[in-house]
Amino acid sequence: MMYSSVGFAFAAAALASAQTLNLTNSTAGYINYTTVTGYFLQDESTTNATAFDYTATNFGLLNRTYPATTGLTGNLTQWQKFEAQVNALNADAPLNTAYKVLFMGRHGEGYHNAAQTYYGTPAWNVREWDCYWAELNGNATVSWDDADLTPAGVAQAEVANAFWQHEITYQHIPYPQSYYTSPLTRCLRTANITFSDLDLPEYYPFVPTVRELFRESIDIHTCDRRSNRTYIHNLFPSYNIDPSLTEFDELWNDVTGETSAAQDARSKKVLDSVFDTDDHTWISITSHSGEIASILRVLGHQAFSLNTGAVIPVLVEAKFLPTGPALSNPLYTTSTHCAAPPVTSIATLSQGCVCSGTGVGGITTPIYNATMSTAAPSYPTAYYGM
Ligand SMILES: *[C@@H]1O[C@H](CO)[C@@H](O)[C@H](O)[C@H]1NC(C)=O
Ligand SMILES: *[C@@H]1O[C@H](CO)[C@@H](O)[C@H](O)[C@H]1NC(C)=O
Ligand SMILES: *[C@@H]1O[C@H](CO)[C@@H](O)[C@H](O)[C@H]1NC(C)=O
Ligand SMILES: *[C@@H]1O[C@H](CO)[C@@H](O)[C@H](O)[C@H]1NC(C)=O
Ligand SMILES: *[C@@H]1O[C@H](CO)[C@@H](O)[C@H](O)[C@H]1NC(C)=O
Ligand SMILES: *[C@@H]1O[C@H](CO)[C@@H](O)[C@H](O)[C@H]1NC(C)=O
Ligand SMILES: *[C@@H]1O[C@H](CO)[C@@H](O)[C@H](O)[C@H]1NC(C)=O
Ligand SMILES: *[C@@H]1O[C@H](CO)[C@@H](O)[C@H](O)[C@H]1NC(C)=O
Ligand SMILES: *[C@@H]1O[C@H](CO)[C@@H](O)[C@H](O)[C@H]1NC(C)=O
Ligand SMILES: *[C@@H]1O[C@H](CO)[C@@H](O)[C@H](O)[C@H]1NC(C)=O
Repeated sequence: MMYSSVGFAFAAAALASAQTLNLTNSTAGYINYTTVTGYFLQDESTTNATAFDYTATNFGLLNRTYPATTGLTGNLTQWQKFEAQVNALNADAPLNTAYKVLFMGRHGEGYHNAAQTYYGTPAWNVREWDCYWAELNGNATVSWDDADLTPAGVAQAEVANAFWQHEITYQHIPYPQSYYTSPLTRCLRTANITFSDLDLPEYYPFVPTVRELFRESIDIHTCDRRSNRTYIHNLFPSYNIDPSLTEFDELWNDVTGETSAAQDARSKKVLDSVFDTDDHTWISITSHSGEIASILRVLGHQAFSLNTGAVIPVLVEAKFLPTGPALSNPLYTTSTHCAAPPVTSIATLSQGCVCSGTGVGGITTPIYNATMSTAAPSYPTAYYGM
């Protein structure tokens, strides 16, 4: 165990200010999220996401001064100063406003990522993966349904682990006070590797909450289908699985998938579940490229696509309003696929699979189940009172 006295005092202050929010009936009303820019390189339009290395840039934290630390004479690191600034924002905020810092980590490379690279290039464009291979559980040598990490993915999570320890030791970075993870295996394992054996304080242990709606974009790909709850529990028995997580995956159905609008609506739901019930300021979320992209849209952050294993911090302002826009429940969409490797695909068409006609059953037209309802599933709401 190891902590800086400065970090501890600030953490206690943050908790006190967050507790002034009355969250007892916050299911009524509307939470309006804004990304507070000017603190991280990832917020700047000039930063190239593809080339970005969070470990070479102190997680992207800009080297700057803050109103809250002007005149402070202590030898504080940039993260300690930022912590003081965030605490000052919370202390000065109106009662309906809270600031939190989300550390969103993308899982390391999974077998589905490797397969997408393998089947997607160079002979085929990447939709051959979408039209056929992604609907299979794997090939003769590897399995990618609810994919686990490849050795390269494990190594990326180990990089994140070493970098967190470095930041704790040399930057006195605020400890995550709460941890959340997607229920998909690649995230469960990434979180385990990333936060194992760190010098964490006893009062903020690594016990992640497994929350259904932090999962990846729901598509017909088998890598978007999760394993059963018993399996998740047995894989990492110390994790705290939400009571609302059903034994079997009730959201994935092999026919319909989320539109961006449907995904953003459920991303807002899962963010609301965190902001409604969690007093903490420093929050770690282990999730996926598609889901983090959706969360960034809900937060009003610029698009910033993460490499496998990468982490993005975001300073979020949440305003709890009595009313807001009516909640919508956008439709899902039906996806096509082929029964055999396709001839080609047309990337500009949403149903652009061009099937060969020589595959199983000689099917020449894409499989398209037009009779399945595209209503969004009802998502679990029983997050409260955990
Ligand atoms: C919080 O809100 C609930 C429901 O509106 C109310 O009953 C309770 O008294 C409030 N608590 C505080 C501390 O204001
Ligand atoms: C919570 O809000 C709902 C919707 O506005 C309202 O119907 C309910 O009475 C409120 N409950 C409490 C305890 O204030
Ligand atoms: C961003 O970085 C990638 C990888 O280094 C590079 O290929 C690309 O040209 C860069 N884009 C811009 C706009 O600089
Ligand atoms: C801030 O300065 C430190 C030390 O000089 C450097 O390591 C870090 O990359 C800088 N951060 C940014 C975002 O430029
Ligand atoms: C200030 O902190 C830095 C980084 O922790 C350290 O390298 C440096 O020696 C410290 N300077 C003083 C005057 O304590
Ligand atoms: C299965 O896919 C992997 C890529 O993930 C590839 O390396 C391997 O060669 C494939 N196996 C077969 C039998 O095609
Ligand atoms: C991580 O996983 C390993 C191997 O399954 C297990 O022994 C360890 O307890 C886990 N640690 C945490 C913090 O989840
Ligand atoms: C739960 O998942 C595991 C791993 O995929 C599987 O072995 C087991 O049969 C499943 N349980 C049920 C009841 O389907
Ligand atoms: C949410 O905040 C943004 C930016 O401050 C503002 O433009 C928008 O009107 C707000 N939305 C609601 C529903 O209040
Ligand atoms: C198509 O969807 C309907 C309604 O959900 C379902 O009963 C049927 O089994 C599906 N057919 C196929 C081929 O998936």
